[in-house]
Amino acid sequence: MIMKREIKHIGVFTSGGDAPGMNAALFAVAKTAEKYGIQLSGIRRGFEGLIDNDLIPLSANQLQRVMHHGGTILKTARSNRFMSVQGREKALQTINKNGIDGLIAIGGDGTFRGMLSLSSISDTPFIGIPGTIDNDIAGTDYTLGFDSAVNTAIRCIDNIRDTAESHNRVFLVEVMGRDSGYIGIYSGLSCGADSILIPESADDITYLLKKIKNYHSEDAFIVVVAEGDNLDVEQVSSEIRKVNTHIDLRIAKLGHIQRGGSPSAQDRMLGIRIGALATKALLQGESGKMAGLCNNQPTLSNFEERIMQSLVESEFQDLLRLFCD
Ligand code: F6P
Repeated sequence: MIMKREIKHIGVFTSGGDAPGMNAALFAVAKTAEKYGIQLSGIRRGFEGLIDNDLIPLSANQLQRVMHHGGTILKTARSNRFMSVQGREKALQTINKNGIDGLIAIGGDGTFRGMLSLSSISDTPFIGIPGTIDNDIAGTDYTLGFDSAVNTAIRCIDNIRDTAESHNRVFLVEVMGRDSGYIGIYSGLSCGADSILIPESADDITYLLKKIKNYHSEDAFIVVVAEGDNLDVEQVSSEIRKVNTHIDLRIAKLGHIQRGGSPSAQDRMLGIRIGALATKALLQGESGKMAGLCNNQPTLSNFEERIMQSLVESEFQDLLRLFCD
């Protein structure tokens, strides 16, 4: 028998930026809950729905049919109201009123911080699932949505390359990632970018300027700029123009196109594996843990430590120097 404590009703929600694979994680939670005879409620719009008592029943049968869609069937939000004590107290009322005795929160670091503040006024057990395209959560090989976002970025940059090669143009392509350079590194290296600028590396602009100074429009020149870099794309563009006045340069900001779309196989499997892990962990009496994959193995880790940003490892910094300098 798997259950060590009496959990009869689980509430699950998605919060923060949507990420491809969230629906797969919801499917896995629903399937596992059904298997163990546990009632499952979906809380719509993240912490907003918890405050507003916006709950719907969820079934595995329903979720099985939407797993291939990006976004989240539960909708999501960034909740300012949850930052206040009153907001959190209203959320607690929803938990108590509905007899929810376990929570699964799918989201990024903001979601995890929210769960920690809720846990200071509630002893309701909870498990977190890392869902964000940014890949900025420590304690898991990848976050849900990262792989799909990188693949989308790659498709876009490949398209841009066609134009860049045809016109011998310089393109600055801005990718998402907030303060993390992972999407930048993965998409930039995979597309053969000439330069990649990420927040974790302060010197990369110096290398870029040195390289582009002697560029004479003989080919395409593609620069991938992570949105959290010390300089934004417009600033990078004006720095380039200072050292090379003759180039034909365009800026392309990929923006939210990277967040949507059908989840990759890797994100679907990640959602399924850690969704099942999170649900079983809750039923086994775990709380305050994040369900992730470490070295491709399902792993529970301590929640507080998970919020620390996962920085781009030195291996990738070395690759940057090797391929882009
Ligand atoms: O955290 C995911 C993310 O897409 C970041 O990469 C980006 O900085 C941010 O969300 C954009 O947020 P919003 O959709 O609220 O503008």
